[in-house]
Order: sequence, then C-alpha cells, then structure tokens
Amino acid sequence: MTHPAIEALLKEERVFPPPDSFRRQANVREESVYEEAAKDRLKFWEKFAAELHWFKPWKQTLDWNLPHAKWFVGGRTNLSFNCLDRHLIRGRGDKKAILWEGEPGDQRSLTYAELHREVARFANALRSLGIRRGDRVTLYMPMVPELAVAMLSCARIGAAHSVVFGGFSAEALRDRINDSQSKLVVTADGGWRRGSVIPLKANVDEALSGAPTVEGVIVFKRMDGKVPMKGGRDLWWEEALKGQGDSSPAEELESEEMLYLLYTSGTTGKPKGIVHTTGGYMVGCYATTKWIFDLKEEDCFWCSADIGWVTGHSYVVYGPLLNGATTLMYEGAPDHPEGDRFWKIIEKYRVSVFYTAPTAIRAFMKWGDQLPKGRDLSSLRLLGSVGEPINPEAWIWYHEIIGGGRCPIVDTWWQTETGHILISPLPGITTLKPGSATRPFPGIEAEVVNDQGELSESGYLVIRSPWPGMLRGIYGDPKRYQEIYWSRIPGVYFTGDGCKRDRDGYFWLLGRVDDVLKVSGHRLSTMEIESALVDHPGVAEAAAIGKHHEIKENAIVAFVTLKSGVAGSPQMEAELKEHVAKKIGAIARPDHILFAAELPKTRSGKIMRRLLRDIAEGRVLGDTTTLADATIVQSLKEKYEDKEG
Ligand code: WTA
Repeated sequence: MTHPAIEALLKEERVFPPPDSFRRQANVREESVYEEAAKDRLKFWEKFAAELHWFKPWKQTLDWNLPHAKWFVGGRTNLSFNCLDRHLIRGRGDKKAILWEGEPGDQRSLTYAELHREVARFANALRSLGIRRGDRVTLYMPMVPELAVAMLSCARIGAAHSVVFGGFSAEALRDRINDSQSKLVVTADGGWRRGSVIPLKANVDEALSGAPTVEGVIVFKRMDGKVPMKGGRDLWWEEALKGQGDSSPAEELESEEMLYLLYTSGTTGKPKGIVHTTGGYMVGCYATTKWIFDLKEEDCFWCSADIGWVTGHSYVVYGPLLNGATTLMYEGAPDHPEGDRFWKIIEKYRVSVFYTAPTAIRAFMKWGDQLPKGRDLSSLRLLGSVGEPINPEAWIWYHEIIGGGRCPIVDTWWQTETGHILISPLPGITTLKPGSATRPFPGIEAEVVNDQGELSESGYLVIRSPWPGMLRGIYGDPKRYQEIYWSRIPGVYFTGDGCKRDRDGYFWLLGRVDDVLKVSGHRLSTMEIESALVDHPGVAEAAAIGKHHEIKENAIVAFVTLKSGVAGSPQMEAELKEHVAKKIGAIARPDHILFAAELPKTRSGKIMRRLLRDIAEGRVLGDTTTLADATIVQSLKEKYEDKEG
C-alpha cells in the first residue's frame, strides 16, 4: 500500500507541531498542565469532578487499597443527570445532542431536551417492568439513538447495562446474558449492515432458550416489525413507553455503584465482564473528551465506533454528552452503498472532529484518494485514531488526504479496562510524531518496564497508579482480576501491550504481548477461537494465531487436527469456519485453516504457538530444540506454503 507522496514524507521523519491557528483556540494551551497534574494528581481530577453535578459531594477523592480503587468516595451523582439535566438547567435544551443517520439514508436528530424526554420515559418504562437499582440489563441493538436512550435510562435508575455488540452470535449473547444474570434484554427487530438485515431478535430468541434470568424483552422497531413476539415476555418499545410520563428522577447513586459491564476478550476462552462504576468513569470520560477532542460549542463530533465496543460507550455516548456536545451516530458500513459514505457524512453534517480506527483508515487508503477528494471535508479541524497502533503511512495519509494537512491527529491509546484514554497528544500543545501515541494524559503515570519491573526503553506498558475510570474488577471473578492485571509485575497495572520509548520520552505502542488479537479493530482471543473450534465434533485439537494483515491488522489462522476418520476436506474447512462464526460471531471467522496430523509441542505437551506464527508469517522457524518432534513443524511449514502460496 505505497503512495509516492507519502513515502517521501516518511523519509523526512517529520514532526508535526500544532498549527498556530489550532493552538490559539485550543482548550489546553499550556505545557504546565503536565507538571501541575504530576504534582497533585488528585487535585487534577477533583477540578474536573467539580465541573460536574453531585447530589452529595465526595469526602475522599481516592481510596487506594491495591488493587482496589474507589474514587470520589461518599459522593452521590448520576451520569444520566450529568449528560442531560445539567445542560437543560443551563438553558441548553435546544442544542442538538444526537445526529443520526441510518444506513439506508434515513435521518433523525434529538436535542438535549428531546433526548432527556425519551430517557425519562424509557427509564419509567424500565421501572414499571420491575427493573431496579443494581439489576443488569443486556442491550443488543443496532446503532440507533434508542441504544443511547437505553444506556442513559439504565444509568438514570442505577441499573447496570451490558451492551453486546450486534455482530455477536446468539451463543455469545447467551453466555454474556448468563454471566451478567440480566433480567431484561433490549433489542430490535433488526439492524442494517451493508444492505442486509442483522436478525437481532431471532438471535435473542435463540439465546434466551438457555437464559433463565431474563424476564422480559423490549423490542425496538427498526424494520417492518415482522418478527415473532413471545406473549408475556416480549414487548414493543412503543408499547413499553405508552402512558409513561416524561419526568423521571435520577437516582442519587453512590460514586462506586456499577454503571456498566462490558464483555471483552482476554487470554482465556471465556470473555470477561469488565466492571465500570459511576463517579470516576464519569470524570475520566468528561476530562479526556474535553481536553483531547478539544470540544467547543459549535463542534460536530463523530466517533465512528460501534457502541458495542468501549470506544462507543466512552466517546459516542458518555464523553460527548457530558460535555454538552453534538455527537453523530451512523448505523451502517463505511462502504455502503459506496466507499465514500463516511466522507459524504462528514460533508453533510459538517463534522469537525472525527475519530476512527487505523483498520478503517487503511481500508480507505486502498479504496483510493478520489473518494475523499470528491467530497468537501473542510469542516474537519481535528482527527483521532484508536484501537491499534497506527502505521506511519496510514497516519500521513489520514493527515494529508482527510485532514488536508491542517488537522492535528490524536492517536489515543486505551483499553476496555481503562475506561477512557490514558495516552494521547493534547492537540493544542503536543508535537506529533506519526505512529506514536506520544505521552500519558496529565495525571496518568504510565511507564515501560522489563520483566523485572525495571524501567526500560522497550518492554511492557504498565500504569503505576490508579486513574478514575479504571476497571473495578471482572464481574464475579475477583481472583482473576488480581491475577491478570496486578500480578504479572507486582504493584502495577499490566496492560498486556508492548511499548518502546524514544529519546524524547514518546510512547510507541507495539501491539499485544499476550494472546489477544485485533481483527478489524475487534478484540478477540486466540483461546476463544480455539474453544469454538474444539467444540466441533470432528476436531481433536486446535491452535489459533494472529497473522499480520495489511488492513485488518490481524488475520486469524487456525491449525487443526481432526479426530481419526474425519477428513480434512475443503467442505470440512468451510464447516469449521462457519462453526466459529456461529459460536462467536462473523468477526471471529478464521481466514485460514490448515489441517495437521499433529501440532508442534514441547516435551511437556505445550503447543508452541510461536512456531505456528513463524509458519503463518512465512518466517524462518525459530528455535525448535525444545520440540518433542521437530519434523512435525517442518512438514507443517511446507504444507502451509503449498496451500497459501
Ligand atoms: C490496542 C480499545 C496502539 C492495545 C479502546 C490495547 C492501541 C487494545 C491503541 C485495547 C493505540 C488501543 N495504539 N494500540 N492508539 N488503542 N490499542 O479493549 O493493544 O478494544 O491493549 O479498547 O487495543 O482494545 P479494546
């Protein structure tokens, strides 16, 4: 994917100081913010917290008992109130809160007053269905404003939401509902994706065959409503709202009450429910949105992430609404009906701040410059990137072709677990280097350490002290929380990311050091894919790895041994791919499957994934001396090369 103009730029090792015009108007202009925050981290966060509404002020800013942090202890607040009522009280009810475009081109918008009304009514509907503070509600919806309404309504009454990405299968949905013991599921009769309908309600029906905690289902009508409804269990969104009043007091929640659960992939076969709570998460989202995206009254902010992922939680819904900004939501695919859909949207809504993922940027590059060049992108003033390391070529392309050379790019590093951005430029002060997330947000103590936990130029990215939006645990599994995040290097938060620092102290993220993959920005674990494969009756053993992919970052390669008497035919290959898609979702479908008589193992029986990675990447095989049988790996390599060319 080379581009002559870009190649020339790369050779210059250019740095990009903020343009003067940007710097002059930026929310943060003084380098001293870093020093001040470092001097007194708690005071730094308190200042942001004080800009928000608390029913009762907090007594203690941080209670840190490693690995358990509590923020704004004793304070009582409500996120829904802060996202909505706070703006109405200030007379900003007529400001647009959400602009929405459906994939077929339908449009809607909601002002803060309108969104407030919808949320109040839906919150009342939840209450009348018996949902109470502390309950869990699963949201399995398309990207429609009602998803944001449902989240804010849960937050209003103190029920935790668990949003499950619409691309997950019925089985994956069932696991998540059961793990969270949700009482209610909110879904839709379908959602648009690349011109076809995702059968959300049918998936819910299938999932609920084995989900005993669910008492009711609310169905938003996005399509024609022609889906079976189960009497006594299913209710249309409109019916649920009937007769509900438009005032609904926001619960005065303790700062540490659970706001949401979000399932994400780790290093085991079972996704973990990451727990986020109210006060700290709110302050972290508010602060990072304000400073990093530099939001102003007239901005139109578009984060293109699906709300099914953490980026959508923090930067489509909570961060922008806490800031009283206008947030844009788009339902569908970037290439529907044509590859210029995103640029059309930016032109049409005059988007000024645009936040997307490197995987998307690389696809746009491939589709060609003529698409963005055919649209008026002059409204853009700031760009963002998230989800994977952005390669310098993609960065430069984004800067030149989308940003017209005038927009700073904030490359933001964070995780589902961190709740909000932890490493990122501040666009009015940071000199950018393409490919680097630059430096920790003020108040964040990030470091790069070696295996012994000593500071190092390259090694693991760790966070030394707690931050407001950090996960409070893994739902129902406190032991794993401690083990995964706080034990690898004792006393610090282990991110699972490799990182190096340059002579200016800039952070360069190098990708995961564990078995977590990013496939088109979606987080998956190799173990999850392996468990799905061995679940097939024909499979004896499976090992999955991520192989570098030009656009998706990772392609999934699975090495499979079949049970005796089962043939490794092309049909079997197709069946296994389908099986994984059914178990997890289409995003996890392996790109390549190679049947093997045996997998390379150490003498103690451990599969050597490192060697499988060498095979898939076409590299010279690494050290094979610990293998029980070195011939296996050589013949696998030959087989792979034959098949994949
Ligand atoms: C990766 C997404 C490099 C990283 C918000 C992290 C990044 C994982 C960046 C979390 C970035 C995210 N540069 N890598 N700017 N942002 N990552 O939970 O490996 O879906 O650990 O959260 O994405 O993925 P998650």
